[in-house]
Amino acid sequence: MAPLVCENVHKTFHQGDRAVAALNGVTLGVNAGQFLAVMGASGSGKSTLLHLMAGLTQADRGRVIVNATDLTSLGDRALTDFRRRNIGLIFQAFNLIPTLTAEENLALPIMLERRLTRSDHQKVRELLDRLGLTSRRTHRPDALSGGEQQRVAIGRALITEPAVILADEPTGNLDSSNSKVVCELLRDLSGVHGKTIVMVTHEPSVARYAQEVAVIRDGSLVAQFEVAEHDSESLAMRYQECLR
Ligand SMILES: Nc1ncnc2c1ncn2[C@@H]1O[C@H](COP(=O)(O)OP(=O)(O)OP(=O)(O)O)[C@@H](O)[C@H]1O
Ligand SMILES: [Mg+2]
Repeated sequence: MAPLVCENVHKTFHQGDRAVAALNGVTLGVNAGQFLAVMGASGSGKSTLLHLMAGLTQADRGRVIVNATDLTSLGDRALTDFRRRNIGLIFQAFNLIPTLTAEENLALPIMLERRLTRSDHQKVRELLDRLGLTSRRTHRPDALSGGEQQRVAIGRALITEPAVILADEPTGNLDSSNSKVVCELLRDLSGVHGKTIVMVTHEPSVARYAQEVAVIRDGSLVAQFEVAEHDSESLAMRYQECLR
């Protein structure tokens, strides 16, 4: 079974007497090691879909299956536990703890569970190196550039070695050269390290790093296509056609 499956998921938000149907029955599977970009206009339901995949929001109907576990069947505690072991989350805002160093922020998911062992320290050092952060490891977030902060946040998502990475507009706060670094990192995580990745973005220049694009419109999946030769111009045209 694919590591990530959404089956006919529905989600409506209620605010007072107003109901907003954010997702209207989305069915989507992501294979192991695949890198999928989810695109769509603002308010189309992209983040809602990602949050359902992460078990941060519960679906009203349908099933979300991650690594053969149906998230819709888990209680809050089990869900938190499951997420910690199986899913790495990356957001547009880096959400680093300002009083901790880059190294400590990266190691935080382990530090919350236990004292770091020697092999944990080794893993942290290797990951800092892979992310090009070794010389920055003792810096606090306010002494890091946006790109460096996002790389620390990516490290924090990877340190527990989850099979599935979910990223919501990970380049949204970055300039183009830092965006490129982050996109290349994500591409290598799937291509070289076999991670299954879903990344939300509305930028064709970012989506082109993925293997496949899924387009959401008004809470429904309207198209899914392969990214040909990572060409952002033809991707942009195809995407615009989906929105017409
Ligand atoms: N917690 C919430 N309460 C009420 N409405 C919500 C909530 N979260 C999302 N919505 C609504 O659901 C719809 C889909 O929102 P969602 O955040 O998934 O869109 P999005 O595609 O991620 O947009 P953007 O590109 O702006 O981030 C929107 O109409 C939004 O206002
Ligand atoms: Mg969003």
